[in-house]
Amino acid sequence: MAYPAYAQRARDISPAPLVADLDGLIWFGSGDAYPEILPDLGDVALRAAREFRTETLQYAPRGGLPELREWIAGYLAADGIRLTPDSILIVNGAKHGIELACKLFLDPGDAIAVGRPTYQSALGIFRSWQIELIEVGGDDDGLDVAELETRLLERARTGRRAPKLIYEMPEFHNPTGVTLSEARRRALLDIAERHDLLILEDDPYRRIRFEGQPVPPLSSLDGGGRVVSLGTFSKLLAPGIRVGWVAAAPDIVGRMAALKADGGSCPFTQRMIIEYCRAGRFEPHIAAAAKAYASQRDVMAQAVAREIPGARFRLPSGGYYLWVRLPDGIDTDQLLTSAHTHGVDFLPASRFYATPGPRNYLRLAYSYAPPTELMDGVRRLGKALRQSPPRP
Ligand SMILES: Cc1ncc(COP(=O)(O)O)c(C=O)c1O
Repeated sequence: MAYPAYAQRARDISPAPLVADLDGLIWFGSGDAYPEILPDLGDVALRAAREFRTETLQYAPRGGLPELREWIAGYLAADGIRLTPDSILIVNGAKHGIELACKLFLDPGDAIAVGRPTYQSALGIFRSWQIELIEVGGDDDGLDVAELETRLLERARTGRRAPKLIYEMPEFHNPTGVTLSEARRRALLDIAERHDLLILEDDPYRRIRFEGQPVPPLSSLDGGGRVVSLGTFSKLLAPGIRVGWVAAAPDIVGRMAALKADGGSCPFTQRMIIEYCRAGRFEPHIAAAAKAYASQRDVMAQAVAREIPGARFRLPSGGYYLWVRLPDGIDTDQLLTSAHTHGVDFLPASRFYATPGPRNYLRLAYSYAPPTELMDGVRRLGKALRQSPPRP
């Protein structure tokens, strides 16, 4: 049945399954946390429910609990980001922050720039705002900022709208795993300044680093208030608690708070986080998490090298994903159907491009499945691939 009252933005979407039907599948599709590393929050949950119930069972302040905003300001300061708590807004995860940025800055017909490829969930959010997506490629050093500038100049010359925002994941990009070099970060900020652009910096994987030295976040290098930065406890503690933050100029976060339609993010989970972090448990946990994900990465990378001849990938130094290139001619949308019959799930290339792109890539999350399933799932994928030979 057709419902003519659906808004324009909803006409081209199909209903999402309310629960993913992945029964029996080995799950490489989603960046869920490794179950063994989820922290035990039982004691802080009890304290939040009992000692703090007049706070946690009420609506929270719109901006979030002040103590959590202060903790986050201190956490960011360790990365050279100098912000006071009035620059921090608590949201229901980083994706909520993306949505609020769209609500605050974008009108239908506006343009934004994104990487090619880029995070599939961000694409879904952007598409619902009826905007133009300008895709910019990248290489081993991350987003190709020279290409970005060329595109901006070309649009100015031909009278097309300049993008208002550029959405970027500088650290362990999803899906490519690449980290934007410091030189490119500085160049990107310079472009943002000269072309009057805002950078939406989405940085969930920063602390899930396995080797190498951290690169300064864009927000720590930003002298001109060009960066709206998103953080989340989804990858630091647990995705189910749905707590993240936006860090930006107070005027921006204040306006986002005014647009927030949830009566304040859940104070119960915020209080659990405050108590957990104050007890000194955050740093040991994150160190253990990074170690666990490094070992998961190694298991999956070795399995892919062994089981999938012709597969190429960069070994990521952090994050949750392998972005695997298969031989030309393989269509990973078709491979997915065959992979499901072999009992394994992944995300095909098509999910990561705003306009049609190469089909022979796939994203494998090593974050969730235990090592035996990482090996078994990749073996199954190899089998599915042998039965889906490349198309001419
Ligand atoms: C690039 C990126 N941003 C944000 C998130 C997490 O969003 P949230 O905090 O809403 O769970 C993820 C998780 O997969 C991600 O890969």
